[in-house]
Amino acid sequence: GVRKKEVNVLVVGLNNSGKTTVVNKFKNEEERVNEIVPTVGFSVEKFQNKNLSFTAFDMSGHGRYRDLWEHYYKDCHGIIFVIDSSDRLRLVVVKEELDLLLQHPDICSKKIPILFFGNKMDNKEALSSVKIAAGLGLDKILDKPWHISSSNALTGEGLQDGVEWLTQQIR
Ligand code: GTP
Ligand code: MG
Repeated sequence: GVRKKEVNVLVVGLNNSGKTTVVNKFKNEEERVNEIVPTVGFSVEKFQNKNLSFTAFDMSGHGRYRDLWEHYYKDCHGIIFVIDSSDRLRLVVVKEELDLLLQHPDICSKKIPILFFGNKMDNKEALSSVKIAAGLGLDKILDKPWHISSSNALTGEGLQDGVEWLTQQIR
């Protein structure tokens, strides 16, 4: 068949937000891992959707590794930003990290799409995507396309909606 277009996406967000679980669900069933452990540094994963072949840089969200994120800003075609929507206490930390990302010279000069997952929607403490968008001030992002989907990375609910949007933006 026709060769798929190769694109890089950067997967960021705080530790424990569910990034690796999200990326794992995007992979073919036979390529998925059963046990997900906290990411050390980062991990490179591949998955496909429509005409795109994604290389995902699944970054660790732990404080000691967040400095690594910026090294991958230059070469990415899109960003997946995963948020634990039940972690209300750390939403301010999420905003700090997002603002740093948006202000970075390798990001602010580019019109790349940002897909947010308000993950762990199954948790009864979970904030709606509207509340998360308001808390993070997403309406201030005027120069890049962005989208927020509520998701449950354990079941996969909401993930396809998000990746379809991202594919549409990049292709
Ligand atoms: P780091 O690699 O440390 O940055 O974390 P991460 O963002 O990759 O999180 P990871 O995918 O390792 O998931 C952290 C924990 O959250 C695991 O125990 C997952 O099973 C759990 N988890 C992920 N997504 C969901 C979800 O949608 N709902 C619930 N209830 N738990 C989830
Ligand atoms: Mg991880």
